[in-house]
Amino acid sequence: MKKFTAVSDVDNLQEIIKKALLIKENPLSEPDKGKGKTIGLVFLNSSLRTRLSSQIAAQNLGLNVLTLNAAQEAWNLEFADGAVMNGDTVEHIKDAIEVLNQYCDIIAVRCFAGMKNKEDDVNESILSQFEQHAKVPVISLESATRHPLQSLADCITITENRTGERKPKVVLTWAPHIKPIAQAVGNSFAEWMQEMEVDFVITNPEGYDLDRNFTKAVPVIHDQDEALKDADFVYVKNWSSFDDYAAMPEVKENWMLTNEKLEVTNDAKVMHCLPVRRNVELSDEVMDGENSIIYRQAKNRIFSAQAVFSEILDELNAK
Ligand code: CP
Repeated sequence: MKKFTAVSDVDNLQEIIKKALLIKENPLSEPDKGKGKTIGLVFLNSSLRTRLSSQIAAQNLGLNVLTLNAAQEAWNLEFADGAVMNGDTVEHIKDAIEVLNQYCDIIAVRCFAGMKNKEDDVNESILSQFEQHAKVPVISLESATRHPLQSLADCITITENRTGERKPKVVLTWAPHIKPIAQAVGNSFAEWMQEMEVDFVITNPEGYDLDRNFTKAVPVIHDQDEALKDADFVYVKNWSSFDDYAAMPEVKENWMLTNEKLEVTNDAKVMHCLPVRRNVELSDEVMDGENSIIYRQAKNRIFSAQAVFSEILDELNAK
């Protein structure tokens, strides 16, 4: 694997899921694979799971880990090409990436959508600069439009929790929130589910359809109860409007996931990438109930990251 920013970077999804599940059985099976190499984890936005699971995964492979919480600890970065930097910004992202090239064998970056300029976000204005200027493999720790390490963890979680021979029905359901949230997790989950052997549907209120470049032919149902019928997995996530970019059109019905709503499912397992706003996106009873596999899903973030780092190291070690 040369880089990891989308599902298209994975040669064989089933193989990498299998690899991650083997790593889960024995996380220290390749303790020297990253020996003498350094991964830089650069966070332009907050994180709990991605930061810690990536650190554990890298350490399990013997990698040196540099973590930079850039928004708090680094110089104020400039992202605009040709900017006259006579204001608040102190260091251009191009220069920061060139310096990271000197220190790191792999650069992983978290760069959320700015949610102000749709074109900038759709075009991945920050991640694209890393892809352009990095001389080492780039890994996305969530970008403006995708969260691939989360999606791989989601695929691992569905694979290990599915039962029976039947293709599982997986429903991605929109959930309420108090502020505009990016579409990255929803987009990414939709992209990855289309590569899995599942029946996949999305349900969201009118005005909240995701970008069709990600959802393609996936059915989008605007009636949540209808969509939840016979579901084996329900993935709960908020996102703001894509069409009316970053807006939050009014929603009259109650979309928060409750045990009552789960009654029409096939005893569905409930997933969420976290962090979650309890009793806004889903109820305490769902979060703490027997159907929730949310903490198992969070644990799988380690094995998702480790499988990806391991494949990137295969490429580096072969040079
Ligand atoms: N799910 C996820 O990416 O969590 P963090 O934002 O805490 O990393």
